[in-house]
Parts: sequence; structure tokens; C-alpha cells
Amino acid sequence: MIYDYLIVGCGVAGLNAARYIPADKKVLLVCKKSPWQCNTFFAQGGIATAIDESDINSHIDDTLQAGVFQNDIDIVRTMSSHSRQTIDELIDDGMEFDKNPDGSLAYTKEAAHSKSRVLHANGDATGRQLHLFLLKQCRHEIIDNSIVVDILSQDGICYGVELLCDNHIKRVFAHNTILASGGVGSIYQYHTNSTTISGDIQGICVEKGITLADMHLMQFHPTVYVEQTTAQKQLLTEALRGEGAKIVDEDGYAFLRDYHSSAELAPRDIVSRAIFDYIKKTESKIYLDLSNFTKKQFKRRFPNIYHNFVDMGYDLPSDKVPISPAFHYSMGGIKVDKYGLVSDCKNLFAIGEVARTGVHGANRLASNSLLEGLVFSKLVVLQSMKNQFHIDIEKFTNPQKDYILQKPQDKKLKEKLRATMWKHVGIIRNTEDLKETLDKLQQISNLDIGRLLYLRLLVAISIVQEAVANTSSIGAHFIQKKEKR
Ligand code: SIN
Repeated sequence: MIYDYLIVGCGVAGLNAARYIPADKKVLLVCKKSPWQCNTFFAQGGIATAIDESDINSHIDDTLQAGVFQNDIDIVRTMSSHSRQTIDELIDDGMEFDKNPDGSLAYTKEAAHSKSRVLHANGDATGRQLHLFLLKQCRHEIIDNSIVVDILSQDGICYGVELLCDNHIKRVFAHNTILASGGVGSIYQYHTNSTTISGDIQGICVEKGITLADMHLMQFHPTVYVEQTTAQKQLLTEALRGEGAKIVDEDGYAFLRDYHSSAELAPRDIVSRAIFDYIKKTESKIYLDLSNFTKKQFKRRFPNIYHNFVDMGYDLPSDKVPISPAFHYSMGGIKVDKYGLVSDCKNLFAIGEVARTGVHGANRLASNSLLEGLVFSKLVVLQSMKNQFHIDIEKFTNPQKDYILQKPQDKKLKEKLRATMWKHVGIIRNTEDLKETLDKLQQISNLDIGRLLYLRLLVAISIVQEAVANTSSIGAHFIQKKEKR
């Protein structure tokens, strides 16, 4: 059977694309583990939107300022000018955002926004609520526990993907294939991402010669609790700082004002770098001080953070939480146009974090990612329905391959990859170490390793290659001279 649409990934972008595809189309969504093991589920802060027509220019300006004007302005305009309508359509379909006592929508502020324009749901569980809502709306088939091991492409046409499902390799054919598989979090030692997010699809793209762009632009969230044994670390949303929380040292000193006039509300790259630099200079531990909130306010506004930290032995908001920056979001990804079309391919699309539309520039503005996923998934589906592209399966002649996904030494090498990426391809980089890292990663990729680690290495190598090639600092890519020891 040939599907009309095959969607890889069940986060905001994949599920929202499915929402716009009519029920009579043959649609299949696939996800690596369960549908909720995606980054959307863990998004706390919210969804940014231009509040109304008059806010579009200001939202665009904030997005460009945070992105250090490296954004594609046309794409930013597209996102911002579609934002209100896209959110209204969600609300009309039944998505509930938090409201003020008078019944109006409650907007919060996050770093680098010039006003409060971030919607949230169930306090700090915006992603979870949105995911649940989209999942309930989904009228199409979802297959879980399916790992994409290859993209079936030939002569600029995508025929679908090859999946590992129930221990069998299976080919799924589709007229339109939409990649919505998320970013690269698991290649870093410290990250906030779902553990399913490991850049495999980007790795397949490298292998296939599909262009990735801006891979050196990796975003580090400033406030993450990393003192857990789990691979995924606990995020402390920007909205906490937007509503008054402070970043302090061991003596309670709020040092960010020494780095930027907007202090806690400076763009994410600046705050992360300031913390990193301050730790290096002072060796102080760094904390998020939440003492501006009363317990009652905090529990009501941030219930999930409250309960997660109770489980870890903290009493919030009176206890300060030790924090560190950690990997959070990939601005780089598969190069696409504004209709999500992958360059040099007629019917392969990428949306959400896996895609590089150019909307985020060198540093994503807080809470623009759920919005990006919502807006571009809709545009991709509407445009692809106009195109009416059909594959001719007779023309796909590539033989099926066999893959060994994991080999015995992979686990150790994977840990090495994650530690190396954190140490040398993190918040502050130097060209010498980047070059050495590139050599090391290339050597590991030539060892006898399983396919999944190989794909992770390909994506890591593409990040380091772009980091080496971009010798000037911009946004999240910060290059410094190597210090003499
Ligand atoms: C947060 O809640 O701080 C994360 C929001 C985002 O990544 O945009």
C-alpha cells in the first residue's frame, strides 16, 4: 500500500500536520518509542504569538534581535503573521490555555521578549497539554516503537522510509513524506530533551547528501537542574525569570547585571555564556532564586516544577535550586523552504526542530519553537495538498539493506561522544579543540559500530564541521582563543 502521507515523529509538528490532513487521506505517523516521548511533551514555558495584528512587527523584531539578525526575515514574517490565526484555530478546536480571572488569555513574559506574549497551559505544562490535545485530535494511524533506519530516495524523489518495527525491517511507501522527528539532544551529555531525540534522521540526511544548514548553531538553556542520574535533565522554564526569579551565586549575588543590561531577561545565549564565564572565574555554584514567589503562587503557576522538585527533596520556592546551562535546542537542521520542502527533493518535507527554515537565526527566541511547529506544519500540509505529487513505485529500484542497529562497544563510545560534544562543542568553543574533536569523531565513525551510533556520529561531525568552518562568534556559536594551561 502507498500512503498519501507518512509523518515521522509525533511531537507538535507531526501531530499538527496530521490534524490538517483530511480524514479520508491514507496517513501513517510513526514514532521511535511512545508518542509522548518527544520534546513537545516536556516543553514548559509556552507558545509565543503575536497578540494581534499590531504586535506582529514587535514579535518579528524580538525574534530577529535574539537571532542576531541571522534569521531569514521572510520566514520570520511568515511565522509571526500566521501566529494569531494558528493559535485561534487551536482554541476553536478546543485547546485550553490558562486564563486571567476575567476570562481573558493569560500571557507571560520570557527572556528577550519586549512584552508578555507567551501563552501557557496548566501552568508550566504547556507542551504536555498541547501534546495531549493534538493526540486526541489525531484521526490517523500511529505506529509506535518504530525506528527509521533509512529514507528511501532516488533521483530527487522520496518514496518513504525503511523502519525497524517488531524486530523486522519494513518499507513504508508514501506520496509525501514529512520528517518531524526533532533535534539532536542525546548527542550531548547534559540536555533537556526526550531520550528519543538523537539526530538519527539528520544523520541519514548526511549519508544521503541531503543538505543540512546552521548545524553549528546549538542552543543551551541557562537554567537546568543537572544533578540527576537520568540522561534527560530537568528544565526550569524561562517563565520563572520572566516572572521575577533571579540567577545568583553562592552568596546570593545576582551577577547577570554585570554582563547585560537586561540581566535575567537577556537572550538565552548571553545568559548561558554569562553563567559559564562566572563559574569559571569564581568557581561558585550557581542557583535559581525563586524567593520572589509565595508558596501559594508558585504551586498554582508552576505545579509540575513544584511537584518534580518535591520528589527530589526540594521545598520550592524557599529552597534555591542549583542550576547549569544544558543543551536544549538545535537551530540547525535539514535545509527547507517556507513550505518545508527539502532542497533537491520533490516530495520530502521537514518541519519543527529537525528543519532549518532560518526562522531562529543564530539564537532562538524563547517559546518560538512550538509556534514554529504549529505554523509550518500547517503551511506544509496545505501546500503539499495543492501539489498533488504522486510517486511511481516501479521507479524505485534500490535494494533493501540489512542493518545492525547496535554493537557491543557502542554504549561506551556513545558516552564518549556525549562527553566530547559537551566539553568541546558546547557553550564556549575554540577552533583547536574543535579540529581535534572532528578527527576523533571521524575515527570513531570508522570503527565497527552499530547503525544508530553511526548516524549520531554523522550528525555530530556535521555540527563540528560547521563549527570549524565558522571562525567568528555569532549568537549561540561562541569561539574563543584556546587558553594556555
Ligand atoms: C522554557 O520554558 O524555558 C523553554 C521554552 C523554550 O525553549 O522556548
